[in-house]
Amino acid sequence: MNRRRFLAYSASAVAMAGGFSLVNSLGQLQTVVRENTSSFIAGLEQELADIIRLAALAPSGHNAQPWTVKLLTSHHWIIGTDDTRWLPAVDPQNREMMISIGAFLENLQMAANSKGYEVEIHIIAESAKSNEIASVKLQKKEAVSDFSVKQITARRTIRSNILSEDLLNEDVMLLTQGESEGCLYYARDSKEGKVLAEGTILANQIQGHREAAQKELADWIRWSNQDSRLYGNGLTPETMEIEGVSRWYVKNFYTRQSVLQEEFRQAAMQKSKEQATAGSGWLLLTGKAATVTELIQTGRKLQQIWLKVRERNIALHPMTQVLEEAATAKELPSTLGTSNDIQMVLRVGYVHHYSRPVSLRMPLQRIII
Ligand SMILES: Cc1cc2nc3c(=O)[nH]c(=O)nc-3n(C[C@H](O)[C@H](O)[C@H](O)COP(=O)(O)O)c2cc1C
Repeated sequence: MNRRRFLAYSASAVAMAGGFSLVNSLGQLQTVVRENTSSFIAGLEQELADIIRLAALAPSGHNAQPWTVKLLTSHHWIIGTDDTRWLPAVDPQNREMMISIGAFLENLQMAANSKGYEVEIHIIAESAKSNEIASVKLQKKEAVSDFSVKQITARRTIRSNILSEDLLNEDVMLLTQGESEGCLYYARDSKEGKVLAEGTILANQIQGHREAAQKELADWIRWSNQDSRLYGNGLTPETMEIEGVSRWYVKNFYTRQSVLQEEFRQAAMQKSKEQATAGSGWLLLTGKAATVTELIQTGRKLQQIWLKVRERNIALHPMTQVLEEAATAKELPSTLGTSNDIQMVLRVGYVHHYSRPVSLRMPLQRIII
């Protein structure tokens, strides 16, 4: 059956089953957009609510947005995490979750400074499984930093159309923060770059057939616009960069079950293979130990870099499967010749156009507890 006939067949089959409404189907042509104003929170000045909204524009694995904010007073908060938004199948030690919280704290600090607040952050978590992670105190000062919050609002993960031309030296320096310890860059054609591409492809094949990981992914994909609006988190066809008629099709006909079909797994593996072999190279963030403080610091460093790269039309695409699968993670540091732990692996490259962000965020009411 050719593709057009297949689409028509599927559509009519669903219509006959009574589950199809033309209005709903056409509605899926729309894109659910992210709110860019903060909702009213009782007892919290608008400016402070804005700081939390901007912090929450941080990246997170599967866009699970694991953060919570407990208001002890209007200017003293506890940043924590909700365990229903952890990813036990791919991140059993909460390593990536802590990196996401680090990125959230970096956004928080930069947004608060730009509004004239000084911020005091103390890590209070005893382990990566603690629900309370950091104490944050804000104090209004006269000085306003010259940081533009557009750096936060315009940042995004880019997965497609990353160019393979070499990075300029100045851009390598930008990514590695002047070759600071903990930031490594490997060009795509280098020995290490090839090891990372091969490891990533293999890890995606392993993970694609690891049931717990695939089921977890299925739980975090919001196929329809209704689900996108309902959850305000997770991955959507837009964030997965599914375009045109395919986007309309998956929004109307894909379900959680589709993600568990062999056809979907194979397509995802093929996609990750294409991705892993494109781009200028790989950025690795490393640390001495996977303590809460180190992981938070890694997340902050990740976000510091990410906030700077849009102006240079540089895309960042985390590809963390190589660290999530034991078979590929174990040998990686020694193969790459580093004695440190590798905490984050990102594909890097220029793009012609740094497109606007499309990932959703939950309303503040769901973060503030
Ligand atoms: C710790 C961490 C791990 C991630 N791993 C992946 C990954 O393996 N593959 C991927 O495509 N995106 C990955 N991402 C990107 C998230 O999916 C992305 O941040 C999220 O969907 C929100 O989108 P945004 O970054 O455009 O705001 C990761 C992000 C973080 C912070």
